[in-house]
Amino acid sequence: RLTSALQDRYARVDVVERTGSTNADLRKALEDGAADRTVLLAEEQTAGVGRRARSWSSPKGAGLYLSVALRPGVPFAVLGSLSVVAGLAVRAAAASVGVDAVLKWPNDVLVDGAKCAGILAEAVAGDEPSIVLGIGLNVLPLGDVQPGPGGLPATSLAEQGATNTDRTDVAVALLTGFADLERRWRLAGGDLTEAGLLGDYRAHCATLGQDVEVQLPDGTSLTGRAADIDAAGQLQVDVAGGQRHTVFAGDVVHVRP
Ligand code: BTN
Repeated sequence: RLTSALQDRYARVDVVERTGSTNADLRKALEDGAADRTVLLAEEQTAGVGRRARSWSSPKGAGLYLSVALRPGVPFAVLGSLSVVAGLAVRAAAASVGVDAVLKWPNDVLVDGAKCAGILAEAVAGDEPSIVLGIGLNVLPLGDVQPGPGGLPATSLAEQGATNTDRTDVAVALLTGFADLERRWRLAGGDLTEAGLLGDYRAHCATLGQDVEVQLPDGTSLTGRAADIDAAGQLQVDVAGGQRHTVFAGDVVHVRP
């Protein structure tokens, strides 16, 4: 059912019972020449990975564990904004089953301060830049695997009162919506403003307007007011003294309301 619902939008959709990590599998597949728009979904992951080398709990049948490999034909520097697009697609899929989630920059999907989905984007430079977008979405309760990555408690669509927790239905909604948003993004050359997606992101991003501490990839951190998101998906942080910093990648570790 999943494969036939998605055949117009994706070159290939594979579903496997179990693997280590769908991201690792598709990274390898891209190296071996996998087509643009290849999808891999696993019922269970034995070595699911999150951002910053954290692990992602992936018990059988509880969540969606899937990755999409893309060769979008945009410069490497632009690929980062695709993880913002993926966040919007996950938010929309949750909304389609009645769960109103918010996004914590760049792409954590939260309900009531708890994390119900995470996204791991892994880009590969080269003549033809490519990217694997991995999405983990908790559909059913995970049991005692708490708290989630980044210290946030975990939640699931079911615990948030979803009207439908059929994982295939949610996967179809997610991957259909993602393909449509990604198409707009690609046609706009990866510019979120031109793709008409920045307003949508701003409207659903809980980070904006908050006093935040951002942990940067180099181990340092930055404290200030999260002022805006730009067309490349970067966070603009106003620090004390009035300077504005652009944050390309990082983790918002602390949000003071
Ligand atoms: C995060 O919030 O830290 C990102 C979590 C990403 C998890 C997904 S599950 C499918 C794909 N395969 C992986 O090993 N990780 C991603």
